[in-house]
Amino acid sequence: MTSIERMYALYQAVRHVHAAETPGDVVECGVWRGGSSMLAALALDSLGDRERCIWLYDTFEGMPPPADVDRALSGEHAADLMERADAAGEHTRAAAALDEVRANLAGTGFPADRLRFVEGKVEDTIPGTAPDAISVPGSTRTGTSRHGTSSSTCGRV
Ligand SMILES: C[S@@+](CC[C@H](N)C(=O)[O-])C[C@H]1O[C@@H](n2cnc3c(N)ncnc32)[C@H](O)[C@@H]1O
Repeated sequence: MTSIERMYALYQAVRHVHAAETPGDVVECGVWRGGSSMLAALALDSLGDRERCIWLYDTFEGMPPPADVDRALSGEHAADLMERADAAGEHTRAAAALDEVRANLAGTGFPADRLRFVEGKVEDTIPGTAPDAISVPGSTRTGTSRHGTSSSTCGRV
């Protein structure tokens, strides 16, 4: 789903916080199949960064029901897009089950004990479950972003 430019920007962000020794975990709010978090996992691994956790927030059921303002540039309402049985509909629904995303991340070889899967709507799960510090935030529109300066704790969920 993500463009090569955005993937490269994420890769560079991970490299930057590692090189600058910026403390904090990697957080993605709205992960779909987990591709961006997989990229972050592979980047951390290639850098030998063995401390940071990756937090993956999602409903793991796809997009919540859209509001009237949720429209494509063409003006088509998201609800209509979501009903379509084609690639546009699948991309708009963006549904991937937790087991599928967990398996995708496992495929990177990233240690499971440094992955935090937080299931539910971010407006319900954050800030109740969040790391003490974030170095690389990535979010869908409803996600939160905050940068911290304390050490990462890889907190438990
Ligand atoms: C556009 S996709 C994310 C794409 C992903 N960031 C990537 O790089 O491929 C949107 C994702 O956000 C999730 N999502 C949307 N609204 C959400 C909410 N309020 N709480 C949790 N997850 C949400 C959906 O389930 C879906 O997986």
